Amino acid sequence: MKPSFAVAALLIWCSTPALAQQDGAALYATHCAQCHDAGDAQNRAPARGAMQAMSFDHVLGTLTSGSMAAMAKERNDDERRAIAAFVTGKAAINSASDGQGRCTQQISGFPQPLDGPRWNGT
Ligand code: HEC
Repeated sequence: MKPSFAVAALLIWCSTPALAQQDGAALYATHCAQCHDAGDAQNRAPARGAMQAMSFDHVLGTLTSGSMAAMAKERNDDERRAIAAFVTGKAAINSASDGQGRCTQQISGFPQPLDGPRWNGT
């Protein structure tokens, strides 16, 4: 691989989280801020500061199948992730989770402990 390709790939890779962050901010401003940034004592919606204390998976779950699912039903998975990353200030730790925060990787069974060479105790 030519070094210029490596540099370009690195730059693209580095700018991806920033793009998600930007999208998240714009999506939040359009779809969430009217309630969550209202700053009105009568409003039960947690403010940005409170949501920053939540985990990415919790917010993503809220948007996918929790109390905010109705607010985010028009958004696709990437957009929900971008919003969740923006409001929590955290990126997805486990990007192998599905839209509901469950692991997509299925580990089936354990390796057989008696398959390999072993000490038989004598
Ligand atoms: C129409 C007003 C409104 C809009 C729009 C709205 N929310 Fe909410 N949100 C609320 C209210 C009210 C609560 C508190 C719900 C409760 O306590 O049952 C809440 C709760 C939450 C919670 C905490 C849920 C929990 O169980 O911990 C999160 C996270 C959240 N909203 C994120 C969002 C995001 C992200 C958006 C934008 C996609 C959004 N909300 C749009 C009103 C709104």
